[in-house]
Amino acid sequence: MAVRLRSFAKINLGLVIGPRRDDGFHELRTLYQTLALHDRLTVEVAKGTGIEIRCAHPQVPTDESNTCHRIARRMLETMKVRARVTITIDKRLPVQGGLGAASSNAVATLVALERALKKRLTAAQHLRLAAEVGSDLPLFLVGGAVLGLGRGEVVLPLEDLPPIPCVVATPEIGVSTAQAFADWDREMAAARGAKLTLSEPSDRMREFCRASFAWLCGTPTGVPARRSRNRAEALLLDLVRAGIENDFERVVFPKYPELGVVKKALAGAGARYASLSGSGSAVYGLFASRPAAARAARKLAAQGIPAQGTVLLSRPEYWLRMSF
Ligand code: C5P
Repeated sequence: MAVRLRSFAKINLGLVIGPRRDDGFHELRTLYQTLALHDRLTVEVAKGTGIEIRCAHPQVPTDESNTCHRIARRMLETMKVRARVTITIDKRLPVQGGLGAASSNAVATLVALERALKKRLTAAQHLRLAAEVGSDLPLFLVGGAVLGLGRGEVVLPLEDLPPIPCVVATPEIGVSTAQAFADWDREMAAARGAKLTLSEPSDRMREFCRASFAWLCGTPTGVPARRSRNRAEALLLDLVRAGIENDFERVVFPKYPELGVVKKALAGAGARYASLSGSGSAVYGLFASRPAAARAARKLAAQGIPAQGTVLLSRPEYWLRMSF
C-alpha cells in the first residue's frame, strides 16, 4: 500500500537564542508558522525488512542519517513491527534552507507510515520520537502558528493567522544550523569580552514571548485595526511594531552578505515584514496582498534571486491539504 502526502515548509516569525544548555543545545523562543510550499512524499510498505530512501536530489542523504529513515526505524521499533519500508521524496524545498524541510519530511513519514501500517502510536509517542530526531520536528505535528520553547521541540499551538501572502527567496546557499549556533556563541563571547552591555538571554527570551503574545492578541495597534478591511495589512504593521526579529541574522548575514541583500530586495519589492527563516538561507517577505507578493516574486527573479510566492498555512489547512 502506498500513502502519498504533502510535506509543508515552515518559517520562523522571530527567533531568540538563549543560553547554551548542559546538553549542548541552546534554549530558544520562536514563532513557527507553516507555509503552503511543500515537498511530496510517498511511503510504501511490503513484507520483509529494511528501510529504503529514494530521492533524486544529490544533497539528500539516502542512508540511516536521513531524518525519514531515523523516524521510520524508531517507529518500527516502538510498534514492534517488521516491514519493508520504501520512502520516496520528491524534493522541491531547499536543502539546509531554514524551511524545516528535512524535519517536515520526517513527520510526513510518521503520518504516512502509520496509515500504511494501519497502526497508531499515541500523541505522546509521536512527540517523543519527533523530538529525538530533531528540535524542529514537533512543530510539524501541530501545524499552523506554533510557539516553540525549550530547544524548539516544546510546541504550543497558537491561534491561527490568516493566509497572509508570502514570498520565499531561496538563494543557493546551505547554512549549517550547528555552525550558526557556534558562530552565535563566539559572537556573544566576543561581546562579553569587549564589555558590551547586552541584556541577559533570559530577559530577551521573556521579552520575545511578551512581544509575540502582544502581537497575536492585537495589543500594539489595538483591536479595532484588526477589524479593518485589510486584516493582513494591520497584522503586518503590528508585527513590525512588536519588534520581533531573528537572532541568527546577526551571525548569518555577516558571513553570507548576499542574504542581507536578499532581505533588502524583499523590503524594496514591497514586503511589509522580511526576515531570515531559522538559520537560513531562505529569506521571506510578508505582503499585504497576493498581487503585491506576485509582483515582488517577479521582481526578485528579474534580479537573479530565486523566489516563489505562497501563503501562510493555518492548522486546519495544514492537515486538510496534507493528503493528495
Ligand atoms: O535538533 P537539530 O538536529 O535540528 O539540531 C541541529 C544542531 O543545531 C544540533 O546538533 C545543535 O548543535 C544545534 N542546536 C542548538 N540548539 C538548538 C537546536 C539546535 O544548539 N535549540
